[in-house]
Amino acid sequence: TVVDEVRRATAAHGGSLTVLTPGEALPDAASVRSHDLVLLVASRAHTRGSGAARQVPPPALAEQPPHPNDPLVAAATDGALVATGGVADFSPDMFVRVRAAGTTVVVAGAATGLLYGLHDVVRLGETAFGDCDIDVTDLPVAPVRMLDHWDNIDVHPVMGQVERGYAGGSIFYADGRVREDLSRVAAYARLLGSIGVNAVAINNVNVHRTEARLLTDGLDDVARVADVFRPHGVRTYLSVSFASPVVLGGLPTSDPADPDVQAWWAAAADRVYATIPDFGGFVVKADSEGQPGPFAYGRDHADGANLLARALRPHGGTVFWRAFVYNHEQDWRDRRTDRARAAYDHFAPLDGRFDENVVLQVKYGPIDFQTREPVSPVLAAMPRTRLAVELQVTQEYTGQQNHVCYLGPLWSQVLGFPLAEDATRDVARIVSGLPGHRDTPSGDLPAGGITAVSNVGDDEFWTGHPLAQANLYAYGRLAWNPEADSVALLDEWIGLTFPGADPRVRETLHTLMDDSWLTYEAYTAPLGVGFMVDPGRQHYGPNVDGYEYSKWGTYHFADRDGIGVDRTVATGTRYTGQYPSPWRETYEDLATCPDELLLFFHHVPYSHVLHSGTTVIQHIYDSRADAVDVVTSWVDAWAALDGLVPDRLHARVAERLTEQVRSATEWRDQLRSYFFRKSGVPDATGRPIY
Ligand code: GCU
Repeated sequence: TVVDEVRRATAAHGGSLTVLTPGEALPDAASVRSHDLVLLVASRAHTRGSGAARQVPPPALAEQPPHPNDPLVAAATDGALVATGGVADFSPDMFVRVRAAGTTVVVAGAATGLLYGLHDVVRLGETAFGDCDIDVTDLPVAPVRMLDHWDNIDVHPVMGQVERGYAGGSIFYADGRVREDLSRVAAYARLLGSIGVNAVAINNVNVHRTEARLLTDGLDDVARVADVFRPHGVRTYLSVSFASPVVLGGLPTSDPADPDVQAWWAAAADRVYATIPDFGGFVVKADSEGQPGPFAYGRDHADGANLLARALRPHGGTVFWRAFVYNHEQDWRDRRTDRARAAYDHFAPLDGRFDENVVLQVKYGPIDFQTREPVSPVLAAMPRTRLAVELQVTQEYTGQQNHVCYLGPLWSQVLGFPLAEDATRDVARIVSGLPGHRDTPSGDLPAGGITAVSNVGDDEFWTGHPLAQANLYAYGRLAWNPEADSVALLDEWIGLTFPGADPRVRETLHTLMDDSWLTYEAYTAPLGVGFMVDPGRQHYGPNVDGYEYSKWGTYHFADRDGIGVDRTVATGTRYTGQYPSPWRETYEDLATCPDELLLFFHHVPYSHVLHSGTTVIQHIYDSRADAVDVVTSWVDAWAALDGLVPDRLHARVAERLTEQVRSATEWRDQLRSYFFRKSGVPDATGRPIY
């Protein structure tokens, strides 16, 4: 329970926890030792005035505790300390941490806020018990901070058990069902609670036959998982198949307009909530890459999403409906179809048609989790729809957890991107429903959230590459506060992961990780063009033309004269027109298009001079060669930490770095040679080309 969690962590600090039931007398301040954590759960009425806070004993808990099974926790301290007059209102996840007169106090309005406040104390360590007086108010920006697991119960012949998983098998499933022993899940739940993640979808968005049954026959097992997540403030979600009425219910159709189909979903939701009262809802991939959806019945995505939403609504559940919809059977000869346009073309016209308990889940870029993409224009185009942005913690296109690639800086850039015409509305504000998103026809539209694909498996180090844990950590912390500095978060992770380590550990990890995303970008596909990955190796390693003549819509169009995709309104696919000003003009014009996205938006000759002053071809040559030099230097830097970090961890990272150097070298040599052969332009530096 939350109380146990609080008690354990307080004890870890050598303190004790005072828990009062509502109405009980306040403890004598003199009896509270400096390392004791004293917790107060305050209701709105209680905190309205500082004077009142002094006299009124803790009232009954906040009117609506987020999880009905949570115990009522109330504690109090010397009235003087809780005179936090600045706190006008408590949202459920919010807490105030006060340090005054030798006591640390966490004030929260609900059990989850209390939990987060406590984790904050643990994260700070001694600092939270330091000398200076502080008064910190913290609350998450996004109300839903979700991780999606692409886990299958069965081991898929091509994808393995975890689709795009690089950390072993699933922590949830073994031997064809939910694991008997969920202790690993419990540790994970605690970890997620500590970084503020509050929602988890436990099965793959590609819902295969066995996994579809989690919704029906598997419910008791799902309930066991939900029980493990609940005490840590995490709600459980399921990915469901749109074809469930047919596949599971034996109905002849899954048509959203069919009353039997509607009744089937309503009954399914009733059963779910009878088993798991605080179930979060459904995640749905429909009409995407072969998954069933409403198109088969001549219906659109709003019809499809609302069908499920109406079944969940009486129970307070939410549908996370994915916007990752495009033609995956494209003819590469067809130059008019542009995959980047697809999500906007499908969804923007539906703005305003989704029920209030539908959240449209939009990948951060218009293609597919590439190392560099522009931010999806869908996020600016649907002011009357609840939106969530989807990130990818699992490193499908960023080195598959063989490569060091710290993604915090990428996510900071996405979340802080001033996408809307009103520049105060960055992506984080759009999806979090902060002021700015609410000035819409349905002014009281609730927020959407931030979601991401998890990178965790049953691997000894959780994430395959031990340093990939930093990505999970940064994701949770950025979903809580998108304005946090991503390198500072990395530093926080280092401190928590290697407590008391030799200072060289911190220094070296910063050397390896701070700019590792940019380094990875520098040896892989250049200037935003994307892909060039090997289809035969599940997107790992280079293959410049691997997707060039395929059905997937991800082309670079390199020929002897130039490279890139013309997505301009003037001469190309008109994709730039999907952006609001000023971005449509910025991207449309070669003179203002940023270098790192040049080939995403334009087809240019190899001799085109970048803003950086070098030509496209020389940039391709130089950055690939320089990046491999950087990665190579990491090997020795890491070797010097032998004995300063746990041996097994040291060995695992060393082994992965060897592979990263090999793979980066392969990228360098293939790309440099490929573009030399295409263009005939020599590398001005004379470095080897094959
Ligand atoms: C990528 C990934 C797939 C996944 C898909 C999705 O295309 O390669 O494995 O199913 O994204 O996000 O649905």
